[in-house]
Amino acid sequence: MTKRENFGSRATVIMAMAGSAIGLGNIWRFPFIVGEYGGAAFILVYIVCCFFLSMPILLSESIIGRRTHQGTFGAMNTLAPGSAWKWLGLLTIFSPLIILSYYSVVGGWSFAFLCKALALEFKPENAGAVTAMFGDFSSSTWGPLGCMAIFLVLTALIVYLGVNKGIEKFSKISIPVLFVLIVIIAIYSITLPGSGEGVRYLVKPDFSKLTPRAYAAALGQSFFSLSLGVGTMLTYSSYVRKDENILASAAGTAFFDLLFAILAGFAVMPAVFAAGIAPSSGPGLVFETLPFIFSKMGSGGQIISASVSILFFLTILVAALSSSISMMEVGVAYLVEEKGLYRRKATALLFCVTFVIGALCSLSFGSLSGVKLLGQTIFNFCDRLCSNFLMTVGALLFSLFVGWRMDKAAVKDELTNGGTLKGSARLFPVIYFLVKYVAPVTIAVIFIIGIIG
Ligand code: PFF
Repeated sequence: MTKRENFGSRATVIMAMAGSAIGLGNIWRFPFIVGEYGGAAFILVYIVCCFFLSMPILLSESIIGRRTHQGTFGAMNTLAPGSAWKWLGLLTIFSPLIILSYYSVVGGWSFAFLCKALALEFKPENAGAVTAMFGDFSSSTWGPLGCMAIFLVLTALIVYLGVNKGIEKFSKISIPVLFVLIVIIAIYSITLPGSGEGVRYLVKPDFSKLTPRAYAAALGQSFFSLSLGVGTMLTYSSYVRKDENILASAAGTAFFDLLFAILAGFAVMPAVFAAGIAPSSGPGLVFETLPFIFSKMGSGGQIISASVSILFFLTILVAALSSSISMMEVGVAYLVEEKGLYRRKATALLFCVTFVIGALCSLSFGSLSGVKLLGQTIFNFCDRLCSNFLMTVGALLFSLFVGWRMDKAAVKDELTNGGTLKGSARLFPVIYFLVKYVAPVTIAVIFIIGIIG
C-alpha cells in the first residue's frame, strides 16, 4: 500500500480547507440572506454562529480526522470499533456525493456562462434576451449535461492527482486568485453609479429582522459554507500532520471563508441595486440578474464590463471546483483505504456515480421537471435533503461523538498536540464545553425551529 499523503504546511492546510469552504454558498446565498435578515445585524449573528457553533463542529471533525489519519468510515471504526457510529461514517460518505451531484450541475452552468462571457454574448443589444438565456440553457438536455461532464472531469482529474499534486497545488493557486478576483469585482461594483443602496442593504443593521428563522438561516448557511457535517473537513484533517496546530487551521479557515462571503456581498449586491433590480438568491441571481447587469453596463465601457463578466464566471467556476474536489475526496479516501481500490479506479467510479445522479438533477430543469420527490424536483430535493437535513444531523453527531463518546484526555491531547500548544491548552475547557453542551443543544433547538417554523 502506498504511503498516506499529508498537507505540506499550515498555509496549505488552510488553503485546502478554505478551498472547500469557499464556494457557491458564499457567492449566491450569503449576500442575499444578509440583506433579507437584517444586514449588519445578521452578519453579527452569523459571526457568533461561526465561532461558537460551527467552529466547535469544525474542530470536532478535525480532531477525529487528525487523530486517526483515516477517512470518515475508517476513523469511526478505529475510534468506536463495532459500534453504531459506523453509520455516521457511512452517512458521511453518502452525503458529499449527493451534494457533489447537484453542485456539479451548477459547476457546469458556470463553465457554460464563462464560455458565453468569453464569446461576448452579454452585450447591450442582447440585454433584453439575456435573462431568458439561463432558462433556455438549463432546461435543455445536452448542453448542461456536457458542461456538467466537463466540470466533473476537472474535479476527478484534480482528485486523481492526489492530495499533494492535486488538491494542495490547486488550492494554493486558486484561493489567492479567488481573493484577487473578488476584490476587483467588488471595486467595480461599488463604484457603479447608484450602488450605495446595495451597500446599505448589506451593512444597515436591522435588529427587528432577527427572527427565529434568521437564526436558523445563519446556522444553516454557516454549516453549508464551512462544509460541515458531511465528512469533508474530517477527511482533509486526516491529511494534517501531527505537529500542526488544528485550532489555528480551523480559525484561519473560518476567517477566510467569512471574509470571502462578505467580499462576495460587496461584489454582487451594489451592482444589483445599481441596475435597479430586486435582489434574489440562487441561480436567478448569478445566471440571470448578473449577466443582465453586465450586458446593460456594457454601454458605459464595454471592454470593462465584458472583462468583469469573464472574471465573475471564472470566480464562480474556480470556487465551485475547489469545493467539489473536497466532496469527491471523501469517497475516494473510503474506496482507496477501506476497499483497496487504486486512486484512478476510485475517482473513475465516483465520476460515474455522480454523473448519473447529477444528470437526473440537471434534467429536472427540463425533461424531468415533472418528476417530484416529496413534492420537489430532483435537484431541489437533493439540495434540501443535504443542506437542511444531512449536514445538520451529521454536525450534531460529530459534536456528540467528540463530546460524549471520545475520551476527554484524547480530545485534549489531539487539540493541544500532547499539551505542547499552550494557547490551545488554555482554551481547551471553553472549547470542550462548546463541543459537549453548547453546540449539540443549540443545533438541536435551531434544527427543530427550522422544521416547525
Ligand atoms: N462550502 C461550499 C460552499 O459554500 O459552496 C459547499 C460545500 C462544500 C458543502 C463541500 C459541503 C461540502 F462537503
